[in-house]
Amino acid sequence: MNKQDLINLLEPYGQEHLLKYWEELNQTEKEHLIEDIKEIDFAQMVKNYNRVKSEMDQTVQEFDELMQPVPQELKGSYEKSTPEQIKEYEMLGLKAIANNEVASLLLAGGQGTRLGVNYPKGMYSVGLFSGKSLYHLQGERLVKLKQYANRLFPEAPSEKQNSSIPWYIMTSEHTQESTIEYFRKSNFFGLDKENIKFFEQFMLPCLTNDGKVILDQKSKISKAPDGNGGLYRALDKRSILNDMKKRGVKYVHVYCVDNILVKMADPAFVGFCIAKNANCAAKVVKKVEPDEKVGVICKVKDRFQVVEYSEISEKTRNLRTDDGELLYNAGNICNHFFNIDFLSELCSEHESELKHHVAHKKIAYVNENGERVTPKETNGIKLEKFVFDVFPFSTSKWAKGNFAIWEVYREEEFSPLKNSDDCKKETPTTCRNDLYAQHARWLQKAGAVLDPEAQVEISPLVSTNGEELTELMKGKALKGNLTIELDKSDNKVKINGSLSL
Ligand code: UTP
Repeated sequence: MNKQDLINLLEPYGQEHLLKYWEELNQTEKEHLIEDIKEIDFAQMVKNYNRVKSEMDQTVQEFDELMQPVPQELKGSYEKSTPEQIKEYEMLGLKAIANNEVASLLLAGGQGTRLGVNYPKGMYSVGLFSGKSLYHLQGERLVKLKQYANRLFPEAPSEKQNSSIPWYIMTSEHTQESTIEYFRKSNFFGLDKENIKFFEQFMLPCLTNDGKVILDQKSKISKAPDGNGGLYRALDKRSILNDMKKRGVKYVHVYCVDNILVKMADPAFVGFCIAKNANCAAKVVKKVEPDEKVGVICKVKDRFQVVEYSEISEKTRNLRTDDGELLYNAGNICNHFFNIDFLSELCSEHESELKHHVAHKKIAYVNENGERVTPKETNGIKLEKFVFDVFPFSTSKWAKGNFAIWEVYREEEFSPLKNSDDCKKETPTTCRNDLYAQHARWLQKAGAVLDPEAQVEISPLVSTNGEELTELMKGKALKGNLTIELDKSDNKVKINGSLSL
């Protein structure tokens, strides 16, 4: 491609400024810029921009008049289920896990800007006694969960028993290489590496507020991942759905990298969804207060969707049911279930119907003097799709089954790492403390006696959801800082720290 070809390509879309420094570039830089330009579908980009532009100009829509809570029959919760019901859901989920019908799908393509580290968030260690990273905890949880499911369902075919839970990991240009390298160095946390599949989401150019593509350097276009809803395009275009089908996967559990308490391939959630014949479902936690800035899941006209905090008036946010709970209380925590037929049809036929959202960001750019500048204020937009944007499709004619939500206890299942310790909420410290507190509760339930000051970390290889602790820990008195680990040399559980009896 020569300069004139590039002008011909860019001019119809008003993007010829991308060639502003062309004469200053050497041959390699020119080739680099051409590659970047060729990757962009300008017609689609302009269409996407025009669509979000008209929405940017509108004031925020409030959904108050159109909203209804998710109907009771599509809702389940720990709080309102009997122990027998929960057991039943868990067993359904564990059976599907033993048969390798459940895949775990990790969204790990984000840039983690608020945390502010220059490597993938999953590699971050929040400072647990063991020093384990988020990826490490997740990997070991999958190892133990499969062993547990196999023990409960020994009749599952041996080839299914012998392979680990399929783990699909969506990365992006920023996180792909270092994530794979980290997994390799960590020996895939003891999982079967054939059952771990990394795939990259796509990138979109960053734009100025008036729709011009931003140059990050004179020969490089500024790009960002297309949002966690980029999942659906990547699943199709990277042939991941085919891979799932080949392996006999029927259900997919999708989760975010940064929730330190995430229950991997959560058997209770998966079992609940199977029992409810869900095509698509979301795990939710109760809002802590009406003004908590979290999206809530509800019905808008005939379709389910997440309504953001800013889209509901204060009055509606404060509405309560007869038993005193907030009416709109289903806080979305980005933890989802899909059955494979729904996902398949959605990705192949309806992905393009998912709209982009606008994120206003500070985007580094080349200024008038040709220098790269990192702005202090927001200066441009990134276009993103969100993973939950598919909920409305669950009631489409083509979608067999229905939508469902499963409410869990926040302290047991949700503690995300978003910020550095300079902030108060969702930091390494809050994650660490939430995990220690959870493990203390598990031990107390198992009959151990804990000194109020004790902090305990239980390896996921010993117990992943609080299971199988009673025999090990009943009657033990614990104090100080402790770890409960599996010694791989003899496969025995070791307690490191103080036992006061
Ligand atoms: P967040 O929206 O919290 O973004 O992502 P982030 O990248 O982790 O952090 P900030 O906003 O830059 O500080 C929620 C989940 O969605 C994934 C993230 O990796 C995280 O698991 N995600 C986000 C993607 O997989 N791709 C994206 O393009 C964006």
